[in-house]
Amino acid sequence: MKNRLAVGALALWVVTIAAAGFVFLHGDTAKAPDGRTAILVSPGQRDYVLSEMRALLVAVRDITDGVLHDDRGKVIAAAHSVGMAAAHDAAPALMAKLPLEFKRMALPLHKGFDDIAAAAQAGESTSALGDRLIGQMDRCIACHAAFRLRAER
Ligand code: HEC
Repeated sequence: MKNRLAVGALALWVVTIAAAGFVFLHGDTAKAPDGRTAILVSPGQRDYVLSEMRALLVAVRDITDGVLHDDRGKVIAAAHSVGMAAAHDAAPALMAKLPLEFKRMALPLHKGFDDIAAAAQAGESTSALGDRLIGQMDRCIACHAAFRLRAER
């Protein structure tokens, strides 16, 4: 009897870990009609992610402006506004819905903006800064090609 209980507890434990692992890897997703992976979120979570996205677009615009006119202060401020510090405020409920692959694309993006700020600070040439920015935009493109958001309820 004791043995049975132990096996039952162990089985439950394995199932729980497997389920947690599955959620960690896949988040809360479905196949979208356009072939991308739809991340299933609440309307509020969708608004939150999209407002973050618009902030990224503003930062890319301001960095481009700063690089073009060699205004390092502008590059640094804009890049920092979307750096790692901006990546840590997402709510745990949203984080659980995001698939691992999405997070693996999002984190290097934020880190890359910190790198741009550091490089601008260190006096890197504007053409090298421009190359970094293009590399960052490749990340925007890759994620947009793979994922979309679907608001539920
Ligand atoms: C880790 C994934 C990911 C990365 C990286 C990413 N995005 Fe997005 N972005 C999304 C998703 C998902 C959507 C929603 C697309 C949809 O539902 O069709 C989106 C939507 C947007 C939107 C639309 C906002 C709105 O209000 O409708 C803009 C603008 C945007 N992204 C800009 C950017 C820019 C600029 C970058 C790069 C600097 C970037 N994104 C990088 C995932 C990403």
